[in-house]
Amino acid sequence: MTMGVPSSDVDLLSTESLIDPHAAYRDLRNLGEVVWLPHHRAWFIGHYHAVHEAFRDQRLSSDRLSPMEARLSDDNRATLASTIDLLRGWMVFHDPPDHTRLREPLRRAFTPGRLAALRPHVVAIVDELLDDLAAAQSPDLIADFAFPLPAIVIAELLGVPAEDRDDFKHWSDQLAALVFGSSDRGSKAATAAAGSERFSRYFADLIERYRDAPDDNLVSALIEVTEDDPDGAGLSPAELVGACTLLLFGGHETTTNLIANSMRTLMTHPDAMAAVASDAGAHPLVFEELHRFDGSTKLMVRVVAEDHERGGCMLRAGDTVLLGVMSANRDPGIFADPDVVDIDRPNARSHVGYGYGIHFCLGAALARMEAEIAIEALARRFPVMRHDPQAVRYTDALIGRGVAALPINIG
Ligand code: HEM
Repeated sequence: MTMGVPSSDVDLLSTESLIDPHAAYRDLRNLGEVVWLPHHRAWFIGHYHAVHEAFRDQRLSSDRLSPMEARLSDDNRATLASTIDLLRGWMVFHDPPDHTRLREPLRRAFTPGRLAALRPHVVAIVDELLDDLAAAQSPDLIADFAFPLPAIVIAELLGVPAEDRDDFKHWSDQLAALVFGSSDRGSKAATAAAGSERFSRYFADLIERYRDAPDDNLVSALIEVTEDDPDGAGLSPAELVGACTLLLFGGHETTTNLIANSMRTLMTHPDAMAAVASDAGAHPLVFEELHRFDGSTKLMVRVVAEDHERGGCMLRAGDTVLLGVMSANRDPGIFADPDVVDIDRPNARSHVGYGYGIHFCLGAALARMEAEIAIEALARRFPVMRHDPQAVRYTDALIGRGVAALPINIG
């Protein structure tokens, strides 16, 4: 590294950073556009425009799997062989042209019409879960609401029977240890392998079932677009399993965390809670503002594909780059008074919580629909909901921001 490169020894997994990542990101933004973090052996980019630009730059690759695989010990590589095979089917880890080939069938199957047809189901599921929450002895916003909701919705969309959803949580948690960068390294490989093997087997069976007897669901639609592909460039059976697991997994924990984080913000901002409870329609940007203020994605990871200079620093092929999504969302150059919740902030929707560019979240419209229905219904039904902010324990993760439990008093 050259002299004069901005550097910070911040540990983004310290208790302090987990509680308030925004303070850590503010310090990093003040150091420069590109900052070296020795503790994480990675570059950090935290200014809004620089994050935007980095998302579009093909010199920053999304293939995080190959370097990870290369770093594994022989034992772990053998243990994780099936997990890596599964993750290879995830578009999110590919650059064009493979990325385009993997994304296109999903884009075609995941239509606005399919989403619109799902809306009444989401409303009904939310109502049921609110009843469960009201009846709970010691209500927990995660266990009783924010976790089951996206799991049931995505299961419904894909055509996965709802009775299998407890298994989903278990497998998804196992795979999360690997994908969401939990710092629990000890049993990571074996845990992720167990989760991915179960997932793969489950979806392979489901796909076979719908290949024989198609139904009105996303798995059947994916099989159809793949089989009808005029270029014959559709998904292989393994990639189809990969696509299903990505939809299930990518749309699960992220949505749970967005709902929980948004409700934490509302509970500490009673005026905003009252506005959502009484007339959310008068503040159409409030949900985007809650996402901007404290969303569920802190960082996205890229790998330098070729040496290049950026923000005055020399980035070398193979270096890791952290795109500071959550930091960009509090960039004062874009969002005035970024640490304030402004429920009518005119540019709230410009946040990059769903990423940007060719990898922009494929499920953003679904996530928005679920979060808006859920947050508004929670605020209406329990406008005096409270929690103890001092007791909140944040998930030990670099990429996702969430809490494992959120005990609440619903008044
Ligand atoms: C609040 C909820 C969600 C958040 C914050 C979120 C966030 C993101 C982000 C930041 C990316 C970009 C990844 C990158 O650039 O490497 C992404 C990609 C993706 N998301 Fe989401 N997501 C959410 C919900 C969902 C849902 C509900 C689904 C599906 C049902 C979904 C499916 C995907 C897929 C398939 C990709 C990969 C797109 C690509 O690589 O082309 N997400 N998401």
